[in-house]
Order: sequence, then C-alpha cells, then structure tokens
Amino acid sequence: MAIVKTVATTPFSGQKPGTSGLRKKVAVFAQPHYLENFVQAVFDSIGEVTGKTLVVGGDGRHHNRAAIQTILKMAAAAGFARVMVGKGGILSTPAASCVIRKYRTFGGIILSASHNPGGPTEDFGIKYNIPAGGPAPEAVTEAIFTRSQGIGEYRILDAGDIDIDTVGSRPLGPLLVEVFDPVADYAELMERLFDFAAIRALFASGFRMKFDAMHAVTGPYAREILECRLGAPAGTVMNGVPLEDFGGGHPDPNLVHAHDLVEAMKGAGAPDFGAASDGDGDRNMILGRDFYVTPSDSLAVLAANATLCPGYAKGLAGIARSMPTSAAADRVAAKLNIPAFETPTGWKFFGTLLDAGKVTLCGEESFGTGSDHVREKDGLWAVLMWLNVLARRRESVAAIVSAHWREFGRNVYSRHDYEGVDAKAADGLMEHLRGLSLKGVRLGAYTVAFNDDFAYTDPVDGSVSTRQGIRVVFEDGSRVVFRLSGTGTEGATLRVYIERYEPDPTRHGLDPQVALADLIAIARDLAEIEARTGRKQPTVIT
Ligand code: G1P
Ligand code: ZN
Repeated sequence: MAIVKTVATTPFSGQKPGTSGLRKKVAVFAQPHYLENFVQAVFDSIGEVTGKTLVVGGDGRHHNRAAIQTILKMAAAAGFARVMVGKGGILSTPAASCVIRKYRTFGGIILSASHNPGGPTEDFGIKYNIPAGGPAPEAVTEAIFTRSQGIGEYRILDAGDIDIDTVGSRPLGPLLVEVFDPVADYAELMERLFDFAAIRALFASGFRMKFDAMHAVTGPYAREILECRLGAPAGTVMNGVPLEDFGGGHPDPNLVHAHDLVEAMKGAGAPDFGAASDGDGDRNMILGRDFYVTPSDSLAVLAANATLCPGYAKGLAGIARSMPTSAAADRVAAKLNIPAFETPTGWKFFGTLLDAGKVTLCGEESFGTGSDHVREKDGLWAVLMWLNVLARRRESVAAIVSAHWREFGRNVYSRHDYEGVDAKAADGLMEHLRGLSLKGVRLGAYTVAFNDDFAYTDPVDGSVSTRQGIRVVFEDGSRVVFRLSGTGTEGATLRVYIERYEPDPTRHGLDPQVALADLIAIARDLAEIEARTGRKQPTVIT
C-alpha cells in the first residue's frame, strides 16, 4: 500500500504566475520542494478536489517527465480520483484545453514555457487551467501565489514512477492514471470545424505547404492532421519530432526564429503556404510565397472569411483582440456589425467573453489566434482555418491579404522587442512614460490625442486590471504602445508596438519598417530607450 507523506517545507519567494503561468529556469524548478510547493498551492486554491479528474501534460521540454511524475503523486495524495495524462507526457496547450472541456474535468496542469527555449539550462513552466479549459483568471492565480507564500507542508504519495508511455489506465495508489493519445480528441474537433474535404481537394490539386513544428509539441498533431487526414505529401511537416531541447532552437514562430521556414518560402519555387507553431502549440505564424502575414492581419482576414468554414458558417458573435494588437480586426467587426473588444495582453482575458458568448474569434499580435472551440489560443487551428479559406477561395495568401487591405485599408504594424534589458532601467523607463502628460503635444507630423496606462474592466465579471501598458495615441489614430513582458525569465523585455492606418492602396506594399519609420523614431525618443537601456536597436522585430 502506497502511503502519503507529509513533507515540511518553507515558501519560495517569487512563485507569482506571470502573463501565462509560472516560468523559471529548469534549475529553479528542479530545486527540492520548488515544484511541490507550487503544485500544493494550486491544489489548495481551487476548491474541493476529492474524487475529481485532472488533465496533465506538457510540451515535452526538459523536466516535463520528472514534473509529471511528481504531479501524479501529489494528485494522488490530494484525493483526485483520476488524472488523464497525454502519452509520453505530451499535450499541446490547445489540446489540453480541448480535453479538459470535452471530458468535463476539474481543469488541468500544463507544463510549458511556451516559446522560450528548453533544455537543462533553459526554461520550464507550469500553469493551472480551470474546468472551462482556459488559463486560471487573476483571482485564482493571486490565490495560488498567496497560498505559496504561506505554505508549510505538502503531501505526496510515497511511490515509484508510473508508466506514462503506454496508452491505458493503471492505478497509482488510490489514483487512476489514464494515459491517452494526445492527438485524437483534438484532431476530431478540427474535423468538425473545418472543411476537410475541400482541404484534401486542395492538396490533391498540387497545392504545396510547409509546416515547421520547430521540434516542439505540434509535430505529432501536424503529421496526423495534415499528412494523414488531409493528404498533404510526406515531408510537409518539418522538424516534426518533439525534442527536449527543441533541437537547440528557440521555438517561437516568428521571422527570426523560424528562419528555415522563412528561407524555404522565398522565391518562385517556394511552396504556396507556410506556417509554424511554437513550443506548446498555441502560437502560429502564417506565410505565403514571399509574403508574411502579421498576426493582427491574420486575425482580421480570418474574421472576414470565417463563414467559409463549417464551424463558423453561422457568423461570428464578436471579435476580441488584446490592446497592443492592431485595430485591423475592429474594422472587420464594424463592417460585420458585430462587437469588437479590446482586452489586456494575455489569453486569460478572453475567457469571460468566450464563456458569455460575446465573441467567437480572438487574437493577439504575438502570434496568437483562436476561437470559442477551446479556451486557449490555437496554432494548428489557425493554420487549418487558413487552409480552409485557401481551399475555398483558391487564391494565393498574398492575393487574399492584399484584397483585404484594399477593402478595409491597412493597419501598418510592427513590434520591436528589447530583450534582456536591465530590470531597473526598464522599470525606470516605464515610470518615465507614466509621468508624461502629452495631450495636444506635437511630435513630428503627429499630435497626441491622449496618453494613458491602459486599464480594463471586464464587461462580464466586472474585474478591473490596471497598468496594462502605456498608450500614446495620436489624432489620426496612429499609436505607439509600451509594455514590459510578463513572460520573460531574464532581466526585462521592453515591447514597443507601432501602428498607423494606411487607406491608400498605392502605399500598401511598403515595408512596414519604412512606412512606420517616423513613428518608430518618435517612440524611441519619447521613451529615451537608448539613454535608459543602452540599446540602439531592438533584439527582435516582428
Ligand atoms: C507574451 C505575449 C502575449 C501572450 C503571452 C503568452 O506575453 O506578448 O501576447 O499572451 O506571451 O503567450 P508578454 O511576454 O508580452 O507578457
Ligand atoms: Zn505558446
């Protein structure tokens, strides 16, 4: 008989979940009691768990397997009746959300640091998702943090490790561990949302695609769905085997990190469509031949074409985007005569709107797009929605986006990241911006309409979130936004978001860095970026 041990512990400072869960270096998580404290704090903060079912899985990064074994033993000690574990510990974030919802479980624990690099010296992360399938709202993450700071003991089953590599059910003390195929339920959901017959016909007609799984979690999902079910040629999926260190890469689907894909999409012989997803499968990047679709535009294009997809044929209830995301989707919402919502950064803010049926599609400029089918952003879903649109319109990616700009105008957009900045300098920069009062001030060709630190009142539950990013909005609607990242693990990351509306089609083809040059300079001067951080140039431009 396995017995439950009660282990004395003391709190670790800083177990405060950020934009998306608790993220730290592997070495921090691997310290004795560190993960255990946090998991106990979760179990103590989410209500009665006795007899309930929990979902557990992760993006397969280094420490995933060890963490799952610990969580299983702690779930057994906490009184859960059943834990559903993705085979091999694999479960993409959107698939976890799908399974949590489908089997009406008591939520899940997702192990991932998303797009951050993996490996013994890199990042690890953990977050709790609620029974609705989405990330825990701030009230819950606050409760978890508070509990973690007062913790004195945790409980864990004194047992050996259990097999998580064979599908099937097996006992772990009083707990039933059910190891399941992490792809099946998700693939079945995708088949219901999208016109698989039309996409199959598209591939059969010679349409070529490259999907870069970046050696992260989406490999098995993409192979099953794209190559097996949709008939895309073998080799469509690149870097399809999940590795604990993502092959040494940075599994972030953007123009810098998905370099191989970006190269493969250049030139006349390139495939028709390129896409990539991140470490845990919730992000996406969309490319055409010699053409990059910004995530803000992708959301707008998908919204405008949603009724081509069976799952959205009835139309959209509304569209939500995070504040720094461009307003391109708002223009589509206005045309469709449906509401548009502007939320703080982070997917958790979409949860209440989706649950209340106020919105169908959501998106963030940070390569996140999703809908009410789950409560996470969903990389492969976005890729399939694009495929559905391409299959029905039979035009190139570039042609579809250009036509969209002609119809709605173009919200020219770019984000400049300054990574690994000194944290004090970054805080000082934000304080400086917060102190400015700019209304009516002329900056270059622009006059400031208002500046503020974005605050949001959730229209469903009334909760208020303040200090969500400095906005400097100009009279013509152009704007620059400044935020500090809530997901980084080294120093601070300053994000600067730049946007200008361009109605003139003859100027739609301009490189955004050129079209936005004056606003980029204004943002740099206003925030005194070089003087305060020592940085002349951003680290990543998207
Ligand atoms: C970043 C993105 C944000 C996204 C989050 C989780 O957060 O900017 O949109 O929701 O990752 O993927 P940040 O580091 O900016 O706090
Ligand atoms: Zn992610």
